[in-house]
Amino acid sequence: SITVDPAARGAKIDKTMYGIFFEDINRAADGGLYAELVQNRSFEYSTDDNKSYTPLTAWSVDGTAQVVNDAGRLNDRNRDYLSLAAGSSVTNAGYNTGIAVEQGKKYDFSVWARAESGTALTVTLQDADGTLASARRVAAKGGWAQYRATFTATRTSTTGRLTVASTGAAALDMVSLFPRDTYKHEANGLRKDLAEKVAALHPGFVRFPGGCLVNTGSMQDYSEASGWQRKRSYQWKDTIGPVEQRATNANFWGYNQSYGLGYYEYFRFSEDIGAMPLPVVPALVTGCGQNKAVDDDALLKRHIQDTLDLIEFANGPVTSPWGKKRAEMGHPKPFHLTHIEVGNEENLPNEFFTRFKQFRAAIQAKYPYMTVLSNSGPDDAGSTFDTAWQLNRDAKVDMVDEHYYNSPQWFLQNNDRYDSYDRSGPKVFLGEYASWGNAFKNGLAEAAYMTGLERNADVVKLASYAPLFANEDYVQWRPDLVWFNNHASWGSANYEVQKLFMNNVGDRVVPSTATTTPSVSGPISGAVGLSTWATSAAYDDVKVTAADGTPLLSDDFSGDAARWTHTGGGSWSIQDGQYVQTDAAAENTMVSAGDTAWHDYDLHVKATKKSGK
Ligand code: AHR
Repeated sequence: SITVDPAARGAKIDKTMYGIFFEDINRAADGGLYAELVQNRSFEYSTDDNKSYTPLTAWSVDGTAQVVNDAGRLNDRNRDYLSLAAGSSVTNAGYNTGIAVEQGKKYDFSVWARAESGTALTVTLQDADGTLASARRVAAKGGWAQYRATFTATRTSTTGRLTVASTGAAALDMVSLFPRDTYKHEANGLRKDLAEKVAALHPGFVRFPGGCLVNTGSMQDYSEASGWQRKRSYQWKDTIGPVEQRATNANFWGYNQSYGLGYYEYFRFSEDIGAMPLPVVPALVTGCGQNKAVDDDALLKRHIQDTLDLIEFANGPVTSPWGKKRAEMGHPKPFHLTHIEVGNEENLPNEFFTRFKQFRAAIQAKYPYMTVLSNSGPDDAGSTFDTAWQLNRDAKVDMVDEHYYNSPQWFLQNNDRYDSYDRSGPKVFLGEYASWGNAFKNGLAEAAYMTGLERNADVVKLASYAPLFANEDYVQWRPDLVWFNNHASWGSANYEVQKLFMNNVGDRVVPSTATTTPSVSGPISGAVGLSTWATSAAYDDVKVTAADGTPLLSDDFSGDAARWTHTGGGSWSIQDGQYVQTDAAAENTMVSAGDTAWHDYDLHVKATKKSGK
């Protein structure tokens, strides 16, 4: 029996307690929330982004065309363009099965082109059954210029193709097709069904843009280094302004990111759905498997200044340099930024804290109202976790970001995790968590766990499930909250749980006691999970062994891409870029069928560092 004392007052629950974490993983941005229908619109795909890419990925050519990188380019931040011979055409295949259009809806086409005056460009939308929208002809004016046309789809299709043909020689860049019907009908907007699914959660905050995405890769900017940096950390200034001037980047998750969905769009979306924006900026101590602190004072100062400029971009008056840029993009009013996170999963505690304190001192000197969030390292089980928490306490950090992904059983068993957290220390931001799976039992375990978060709402101030989105054809990480393809989207059981809690945030916890605590028992189902990070840049060899030394997995990073090889028995395979065990027999070598006891698995990861690194 449960006893509830209505007169007793438990923790106050903030309206912002439950939020979302958006990271461009699983093609969450391009081919996902960002409504652009053309893939590789600026011909910037590169083997640096993904070994299978070329500048013509997603394009096919009829006639003669080649991607060129020379002084005739559109601008310095958009270096590749397509040189199309007279009488030739190029066709874009979109994402998933193609370009999805709905009968009767309008679609806005645009292209930057440089061609002799009098050259005619013809644009067609079609699928295997014929034309989807009538062709449009536009006449070139000479020199680079942007041309636009609007289509109305005559049929619904999920396999559309967009073709641009030219009568004369032409240079093309930024070939774009947007549905008119974006979320809130905003220009350079978001895909409506996906944005609506997020809006229906009524999240209290939006953490963005990552994750590992944020601070891996070079900390230098696009033009700072020798050559033009492709693999650079997520730097907000790259992501604002006219889309044709946003230099694309190699995404940490193995594809190209256009930055069409950038900081302005993140702020605007947060405002549209009534959520507090919570950006994460790179800390120059790279987590996610790249343990190298960047030791360059000038670079660190520039990143700190960039962070101050970001706050000015969000909140500054239109007379300030960065506030003016926000106004020019269409939003003179401030975005009311109050929280900012420095770094993500930093696993070099001391180096991180040295830098974190420099960021925080500079931010709070100029903007004393800002809450600057820190983090507790790669995950709560890591060897640096306690050290990181102690350093956070010593540094009198306001709020610490914790991340963990674990079995549903773990979530059930750890409902009391925060009951014993120090009330006088930093508050908790549970920035990433999920149980391993999208089944009903996962949602249920997470719901049970969230009651523990809520009971401790005096110390756990913010919480977000992760990751938010997955395009079913480009998955790097599962489970995920919302799934989609090029024309449909669906929430997981976990999504329904998040929706239930976010739409029913209480004001205050009413303390209760129970005569018995339900015990967690039953057969263990599902694989034993382990995750680790390693990159071919840093390691020669990674092995995972059980505590008794039995080899389980290894990767020598030879060949094109990092691939796990299973060195034990059973069948294992790579699915959607993830290493998964595919037969139950192999699974049962660790957990026998019908075994109801709890086992303590102790898996060991051994990595051999590359010499000289
Ligand atoms: O949510 C996916 C990844 O998990 C994030 O990028 C990272 O922060 C965490 O390890």
